Amino acid sequence: MAYYRSVGNVPPKRHTQHRTPEGGLYSEELMGEEGFTLDSSLLYHRFSPAAIVAAEPWEPPSAALTPNLPLRARHLRLHDLAPGDEWTRHDAVTGRRTALGNADVRIGYVAAGKPSPLYRNAVGDECVYVEAGAATLATSLGALDVAAGDYVVVPRGVIHRWTPVGDDPLRLYVIEAASHIAPPSRYLSRHGQHLESAPYCERDLHGPTEPLLEDGEGVEVLTKHRAPSGVAGTCHVFAHHPFDVVGWDGCLYPFRFSIHDFEPITGRVHQPPPVHQVFEGHNFVVCNFVPRKVDYHPLSVPVPYFHSNVDSDEVMFYCGGDYAARKGSGIGQGSVSLHPAGHAHGPQPGAVERSLGVDFFDELAVMVDTFAPLQLGEGGLAVDDPDYAFTWAGGDG
Ligand SMILES: [Fe+2]
Repeated sequence: MAYYRSVGNVPPKRHTQHRTPEGGLYSEELMGEEGFTLDSSLLYHRFSPAAIVAAEPWEPPSAALTPNLPLRARHLRLHDLAPGDEWTRHDAVTGRRTALGNADVRIGYVAAGKPSPLYRNAVGDECVYVEAGAATLATSLGALDVAAGDYVVVPRGVIHRWTPVGDDPLRLYVIEAASHIAPPSRYLSRHGQHLESAPYCERDLHGPTEPLLEDGEGVEVLTKHRAPSGVAGTCHVFAHHPFDVVGWDGCLYPFRFSIHDFEPITGRVHQPPPVHQVFEGHNFVVCNFVPRKVDYHPLSVPVPYFHSNVDSDEVMFYCGGDYAARKGSGIGQGSVSLHPAGHAHGPQPGAVERSLGVDFFDELAVMVDTFAPLQLGEGGLAVDDPDYAFTWAGGDG
């Protein structure tokens, strides 16, 4: 995130004495990515950020993956993962179910009603899309108020806590990278500013605005981290509450971006999928499809052509409106479709004819394209619709 912010109490010169009102010294921490050659921030703590008093085993949600064999398109009904009032017993971290994953990215889902434990992901950045509900994301760099339609990007290693707000379930679609997540480099100038041609800009990105301080001793933080088996967990007990940062500055921080601030790029004929891109990580991209005027050539076909994305598996999460190309397939709000590399896909039977002459699509979907094949998590297997792969065979396409 090449976008500088300064929050709270920081000294005028880095790496110099920064004193508390009582005359003591704050602890300065450089938090940086890729060996301190990428984004970083300087944090000023009331206590030592290294002071832990215990490290205990913690079993994170199942990370087991099952190959997509025999290869076929999938439809996963994520809302079925938390039927009835089950969401009231889950939190946004330990209640996650893995739908799909590979070595580069994992896609999970949770409907939550309880505050989460303090948590940090040391495997990679998280991009959490808020499908429904509202929450406060408390972090060591400050808090964010988030609501439906927000992408919430939490950098690797940032300690945080999700607290649902209101009476409705907090529904989160969780994209966990094994790398960093950032705006696509082609949206940025050589020096990192968002270009005029990008579908969003710095004003649409919202970071913390003030420090968040909490008191406490012997505070547990769940850490998800890398392990020979892939992913493991540890519960670290901090001597003092890790929300002790009185000020920070730099380009590494959590932020939110609303899907409703994404300005769609449209044209006379169908625009290719890259115009919908929002973020990129190592070996995957995040795109979204938002309500928009559709193709306006007099003979245009508004729904997508059939396509073979030969290098990618495509994952669509249908999170609002009415998705024209998938009518008749059983897909609805909360559905995920997986269209794996290896065969073509496109509009469901009848969808092309129905789209002719339409000038607006009221659809909301988040897409993840991965450059390595995806496997199914235990959550995905639990809500798999076995008929979806064969729904194209019944009509005119
Ligand atoms: Fe597609």
